[in-house]
Amino acid sequence: MKKILILLITLLTVAVQAQKRPEWLKKAVFYQIYPSSFQDIDGNGIGDIKGTLSRLDYIQSIGVNTVWFNPLFKSAFQDGGYDVIDYYLVDPRFGTNTDLVEFIKDAHKRGMRVILDLVAGHSSDQSEWFKQSKEADNNLHYSDYYIWAQVKPNDLPPQEASKWVEANAPRAKYYVKNFYNSQPALNYGYANPNPNHPWEQSIDASGPQAVRRELQNIILFWMEKGVDGFRVDMAASLIKNDPDKSATIALWKKLTAWFDKKFPEGVLIAEWFNPTQAIEGGFDIDFYLSGSLFSSRGRGTQTPSRVYFDKAGTGDFATWYKTYIGHYESTAGKGYVSVPTGNHDNPRIATATRNDGPQLKVAMTFLLTLPGAPFIYYGDEIGLKFIPNLPSIEGSNVRSGERTPMQWDNTQNAGFSTAPIEKIYIQQDPDPNRPTVANQDKDPSSLLNFVRALLAFRAKSEALGNDGEFKMIGDINEPYPLIYMRTKGNEKYIIGLNPSDKPVEAEITTLNSVRVKYSFGTNEKCSYKPGKTVDKIKIPSVSAAIFKVQ
Ligand code: GLC
Repeated sequence: MKKILILLITLLTVAVQAQKRPEWLKKAVFYQIYPSSFQDIDGNGIGDIKGTLSRLDYIQSIGVNTVWFNPLFKSAFQDGGYDVIDYYLVDPRFGTNTDLVEFIKDAHKRGMRVILDLVAGHSSDQSEWFKQSKEADNNLHYSDYYIWAQVKPNDLPPQEASKWVEANAPRAKYYVKNFYNSQPALNYGYANPNPNHPWEQSIDASGPQAVRRELQNIILFWMEKGVDGFRVDMAASLIKNDPDKSATIALWKKLTAWFDKKFPEGVLIAEWFNPTQAIEGGFDIDFYLSGSLFSSRGRGTQTPSRVYFDKAGTGDFATWYKTYIGHYESTAGKGYVSVPTGNHDNPRIATATRNDGPQLKVAMTFLLTLPGAPFIYYGDEIGLKFIPNLPSIEGSNVRSGERTPMQWDNTQNAGFSTAPIEKIYIQQDPDPNRPTVANQDKDPSSLLNFVRALLAFRAKSEALGNDGEFKMIGDINEPYPLIYMRTKGNEKYIIGLNPSDKPVEAEITTLNSVRVKYSFGTNEKCSYKPGKTVDKIKIPSVSAAIFKVQ
């Protein structure tokens, strides 16, 4: 009897652990906002929290229910806010801590949630922590928050060597950075400290322990103000010299277990780009970008012909898919692999020649029918275009083109700001016919209304939802049309996509179903004909369909 009881308790604990994700995540649809570029209310040409608040009706109208803000904390803005000066303070350009709390309250009243960006791996070199750490006295509170060395060894592997910045500070000659020089890496310690390298502290040393506590304090501070979780920037970067990431995963396991216990309704999303590792570390979600399917490296005016989402119809799907499916399979049931529509680091889906409604609807059908929580990057729902060759703003470098301000209407600066055009954060799309919310709102055939309808369709279906299973049905080496299935229980959908400008058809092993019905898509001429041994799917040029299997 006792043994059975123990077994039952163990089984129950395992079940609870496996289900630690909050219930709301199952229906979560995220909307990523780059705050400088969304809505400016005080007329200085830069977006702010109050401006964003004034657009919550619109945000909600898309069918998303969770907002993720790119960094809002006090920053030197040498990397668009990813160089934080004070983690406990909203940057004055965006408003105040009170404004953020007001935003969260309003969002919560609507049943929406708010996620902040947590830059865990590095701060700004202008933070008080770093300033103190630079001082000659190395016994101060923040002394060991960073990694300092007097001599740079000449046998460092090139990638690591490039992270050493010559500072000539009173404390020491070099510090280790994470991204730009202005972003010194916080000291979470080294996986296997080399005794001959005094700067390599163990993860249990007092400096790394203090940094870890600080991170927990920041999390507590904002969770207590009502936020619903964090997207953790460069989450894989914390522990140094950790090639297989085992020490970093172990650290995150501890942190996420602590977080889940304290905040069972909170979520932690990694920017790790390795969902298998991130989810093992206890994250709820990690990203897997669709860049190679959409030509992220192009950044020009042409999409190369090997890009899958291109009218040429000669693109490669298999390479992207093989890694994707590996991550999906290793994390299924444990966490989400999310493929965002875009983000602030990569060109938008509306890039170069892939810029019209029909093409973007096909792309959106793909992105919003994958498993895992969808992430819509602000503006992608109206086909805001990637603008090539813009000057670098606040460390954006080549990334300005995906950070241009939102286009609301046909007034000055597309309704983003009343500031003179030269004061606008980043130059907007100069095209007089640029897409706007106002134009698309009233056009039933617009991308915006398509995205709304698609999200509404998805929301009604368990199979198409975040937890529905995913299975590739078509041949990934002949991906025009691309055919995959989403299932939950008895509910089944087949998705057929054709980004090419030629009509295409495919045969698949029959599903033996009585009826397969076109239920949603861009073109009612998409057809699915069940047969005895094979089923035939026809998708006209640049079209997408969701078929219900009955
Ligand atoms: C992440 C951010 C990126 C930033 C970098 C350094 O990759 O998404 O915008 O520049 O981290 O913080």
